Amino acid sequence: MALVSTKQILNEAMKEHYGVGAYNVNNMEQIQAIMLAAKETKSPVIIQASRGALKYSSFIYLSYLMKAAIVDNPNIPIAMHLDHGNSLQTIIEAINLGFSSVMIDGSLLEDGKTPSTYDYNVKVTRSVVEYAHKRGISVEAEIGTLGGIEDGVGSSDGKSNLTDPKEAERFVNETGIDSLAISIGTSHGAYKFKGKVKLAFDILKNVRSLINIPIVLHGASSVPQDLVEEVNKYGGQLPGATGVPITSIQEAIKLGISKINVDTDGRLVMTAAIRKFLLEHPEKFDPRDYLSIARHELTKLISSKMKDFGTAGHAKY
Ligand code: G3H
Ligand code: 13P
Ligand code: ZN
Repeated sequence: MALVSTKQILNEAMKEHYGVGAYNVNNMEQIQAIMLAAKETKSPVIIQASRGALKYSSFIYLSYLMKAAIVDNPNIPIAMHLDHGNSLQTIIEAINLGFSSVMIDGSLLEDGKTPSTYDYNVKVTRSVVEYAHKRGISVEAEIGTLGGIEDGVGSSDGKSNLTDPKEAERFVNETGIDSLAISIGTSHGAYKFKGKVKLAFDILKNVRSLINIPIVLHGASSVPQDLVEEVNKYGGQLPGATGVPITSIQEAIKLGISKINVDTDGRLVMTAAIRKFLLEHPEKFDPRDYLSIARHELTKLISSKMKDFGTAGHAKY
């Protein structure tokens, strides 16, 4: 069995200066796409599920689909990661489901929207670290909040609160976490920048020089314009969608990011494929016809990210 913690995957990535994508999943096709891409590129993988994803799949289904991926791919290191856990209770549920890694996002209150205080963040994060570490589970936490709001994850005022490097250093020392998500100007979803792309690389450099654990970038989808055009061409309406260009992600990896969270790009590529297929084949109605095409397109997208992030070749077997 190849279930590992994100600590194992990310410490290796930090040492060797490459990035590892953490891909959000909600269903079987997405998990299979990640595994096909990992197999093709020989990459370690982090498969992550949000609270919304777990709820959508009645919790048990998604965890067993992830376990199927582990059984089916004994040579690939796979971490099962909870994305944006909001309380110790949620963390306990995920660990009981077999997750090897959890994120506690104490930068926001339990509602996943309201920015919290530093003291609240330390308190809830510490309680998670104490519970998880006893069970060999790694813990990601966040300092600073991302801008934008997407499906319930993001600060309610829509504004980002960029990470203060000194506070990040103090937070790591006071909590004992295994990886730290920081805010340098990205946001969740398909609308990341109004004008020019602007990331606070100076903050990243500063944090990197002050802490000694892997750093995580949320809201790291690139929102490729060809995919946005494809979605819009076949009846979608995503005017002005923008993301973080792959060159900026590569720069961030160079400066010390190890984990790159990607959800939106996977949603876009599947939606584009399904919209196109259904419009071009109005007579078809078997979900396998369009889901297999969506899975294939997602595999290609993830496989190219694995190459671009430098993950490819690092599942050593
Ligand atoms: O961080 C947010 C992820 O994109 C998860 O989104 O809560 O809609 O599953 P979700
Ligand atoms: P995107 O919306 O940019 O894909 O970010 C996903 C994310 O950060 C999940 O935690
Ligand atoms: Zn996130």
